[in-house]
Amino acid sequence: MINWNSLWSIVVLSSIVCADPFWVVRHGTLVESRLDPIIAPGVVSGHTHAIVGTGSFDPNYSYENSRNSDCTTANVDVDFSSYWVPALYAQWPNGTFTKQKFRGANTYYQVRRGTNEPIYEFPPGFRMVAGDPYRTTFDASVLAQDAVRYNCLGVTGPETNKFPAQYCPDGLRAEVYFPHCWDGVNNWLDGSAHVSYGAEGTFDGGGRCPDTHPKRIMGLFYEFLFDDVKPETGAKRTLATGDQTGYGFHGDFTNGWPTGLFSKIWAEGETCNVGFSLENCPPLKEVMTDISDCKYDGLIVDEEIGYTPLDALPGNNPVFDAENPRQPDLNYVEKAQFVRAVNGMPGPGPETPPPAMVSPTQVDSGDR
Ligand SMILES: *[C@@H]1O[C@H](CO)[C@@H](O)[C@H](O)[C@H]1NC(C)=O
Ligand SMILES: *[C@@H]1O[C@H](CO)[C@@H](O)[C@H](O)[C@H]1NC(C)=O
Repeated sequence: MINWNSLWSIVVLSSIVCADPFWVVRHGTLVESRLDPIIAPGVVSGHTHAIVGTGSFDPNYSYENSRNSDCTTANVDVDFSSYWVPALYAQWPNGTFTKQKFRGANTYYQVRRGTNEPIYEFPPGFRMVAGDPYRTTFDASVLAQDAVRYNCLGVTGPETNKFPAQYCPDGLRAEVYFPHCWDGVNNWLDGSAHVSYGAEGTFDGGGRCPDTHPKRIMGLFYEFLFDDVKPETGAKRTLATGDQTGYGFHGDFTNGWPTGLFSKIWAEGETCNVGFSLENCPPLKEVMTDISDCKYDGLIVDEEIGYTPLDALPGNNPVFDAENPRQPDLNYVEKAQFVRAVNGMPGPGPETPPPAMVSPTQVDSGDR
């Protein structure tokens, strides 16, 4: 049983000791599509993602393009980063799939480090991923695995690393904590090998960085909120990858922050240990804003993504779990093409109602 109030006081208490900045950027939704400029740059990606951040999101990432935007889903108007995770589906008893509503995201920025340890900004062009899309097992001693979590909103109980056992009346909050040690050289390496969790401690702690990744970067933590699948319908929670365990949740990040802002925030120390209250941190107060309706009109995959029942997940991903290993169709040929989006949709198709602009989760535990 978790008492959020007492957890919150632990956070406050430890912040008195560390006096380090901590802030949360809130997001409305941008687009859901098979786009992934890190793993599948320039092409249609393997599964549908729920994407927030810069309005200039594109199948190819560049820092310059991310910054060259007239809007962002963030409530910080200079944050033109992109943040994405797999979309959530329901698989119905007859085998069809519909997409669960994606409600928005919170992206947490935490300084977790040793005493007086230097910390480094994400350089322009920096990108990283956390989580493993096809993992169906769990080893609590591996920080990268423990960093993937679910918070079942509306019921009390601890966070879980797989899909929660019970229905979450106030939403399923999927969470992932990114590595916060960097090799100090590369903006990206295959398999996100340029970043690492600490050599000791917890996935979200300030444990010593390994010698291979000696430079501390911000601890980035995602909360993406989805409507949960109702168990009485007989439907099963299914990630866009086909994963029915939940262990394969993952997150992707491309940097679009202006150079120098983090350093200004760090210089404020404890003053910027503000959580959601950005107005209390002077460098963030200048750039905070209301969440605006940032319309996506970039490239999108021209396909149905599950507002009405689909016979197969977009990308033809078969379902899998621990007992039923993933068996992709080796004869599948990708035929989907990009079109220019109108308001985050492939066009005014009959079966694709435009997603309502949603306010992101206000159901915040304050537990980070
Ligand atoms: C992505 O970039 C590559 C290399 O510059 C380019 O050939 C390709 O057309 C781009 N793809 C899209 C979808 O813009
Ligand atoms: C399958 O079940 C879903 C959910 O009940 C329903 O909407 C859909 O029409 C069904 N499809 C078929 C082909 O029976």
